[in-house]
Amino acid sequence: MQRLKVVVLGAGGLVAQRLQQRLVHHPWFRLTAVAGSPRFRGKPLSDVPWALDQQRPDLPEMSVEDVADEATISRLVEDGVSVAFSSLPSEEARRLEPMWVEAGMTVFSNAGAYRGVSGVPLVIPEVNPEALGQTGLLRHACATNCTLLPLVLPLASLHEAFGVQSYRMRSEQGLSGGGHAYMQQAMAEGSVDTSIPGEAEKTATELEHVLGWSGQASLSCQRVMRSDGHHVFVELEVEQEVDHDAVQTVLKQWSERHRSTLPSAPHQPLMLVPSIDVESHLFADGSGYPQRPDPAMDLKAGMAIVVGNIACPTPHLVRFEAFSHNTIRGAAGGVIYLAELAHDMQLLPVNPVHP
Ligand SMILES: NC(=O)c1ccc[n+]([C@@H]2O[C@H](COP(=O)([O-])OP(=O)(O)OC[C@H]3O[C@@H](n4cnc5c(N)ncnc54)[C@H](OP(=O)(O)O)[C@@H]3O)[C@@H](O)[C@H]2O)c1
Repeated sequence: MQRLKVVVLGAGGLVAQRLQQRLVHHPWFRLTAVAGSPRFRGKPLSDVPWALDQQRPDLPEMSVEDVADEATISRLVEDGVSVAFSSLPSEEARRLEPMWVEAGMTVFSNAGAYRGVSGVPLVIPEVNPEALGQTGLLRHACATNCTLLPLVLPLASLHEAFGVQSYRMRSEQGLSGGGHAYMQQAMAEGSVDTSIPGEAEKTATELEHVLGWSGQASLSCQRVMRSDGHHVFVELEVEQEVDHDAVQTVLKQWSERHRSTLPSAPHQPLMLVPSIDVESHLFADGSGYPQRPDPAMDLKAGMAIVVGNIACPTPHLVRFEAFSHNTIRGAAGGVIYLAELAHDMQLLPVNPVHP
């Protein structure tokens, strides 16, 4: 089977390297180029320091291309590269992603710059896959903010069954959500400023967008001293009367209905547990909790949302906690899953047959 040639925009960042890690053995996509900022431009990829916990995978030999050079982009298009995965900072994405789109690539982005912009679908595969096909052949699409994932998957299922009128969410977010330099500094200092400016507003806006829901929301987001994983504490006010068993049944049935056979889809999108353990649940794959996963080989590890601590203190109130891996499900894994869905829906310009 012929794999689609893809490029990663970003060389040494946490999400850029998660993308490289997950693309190196991907069955449908072939990592053909990496395009970075001036700090690594022209260097062999093997000289770019590896930032992730797992061992550097056996990446193809290549030099880091110039992400902002039009001639480079044209050359890659002529070489048959048709998909770009962007892990650029938002301000750079705003400037650079259109150059890659205009040259003829389909850009899948983890950056915030084009989220919610008309003509650029903002999609979570289990929640609003139909939005991906609304522009015809796909040129540019965005994955959501990482904090939204553990909140919106359980909320979408409970909204469908019971009608959510309002919600409150508090988050505890891992350091890697702030990027590599931020994480390194916090680790070195042994402490972190817990505030995450703009995160609550962004999460609320994106939830309304992907669910087509508008109601009362109250969110607060905090950084905590943990490398990875975003943990949310949620309370919903619902229209219909509920109890603990009904909530569990709805979550399980929704999860079963939203299973997918795509390579990066978890075995089950939601995994129900009595209570969340932020260490052992980090790499949940929908059927278990791998403790020493190899995310370069196992595309499902870190892709499930763990839901626990479910309670219904009154007939119209539901409480739950949820947890997911921010640089996998919330970033690189999520955006590759999106590209797999687009490919499966025949929305990419080049469509070799895949099994
Ligand atoms: N971390 C998460 O959990 C997460 C989750 C969802 C979305 N995101 C989004 O993903 C993007 C990357 O996040 P990250 O955590 O990987 O950040 P990071 O570790 O700080 O990495 C920053 C990335 O941006 C690139 N970059 C920096 N300055 C640039 C410039 N002037 N021109 C071109 N590229 C430049 C770097 O490329 P080089 O390495 O080539 O210098 C690097 O790959 C951000 O938009 C972030 O909001 C992150």
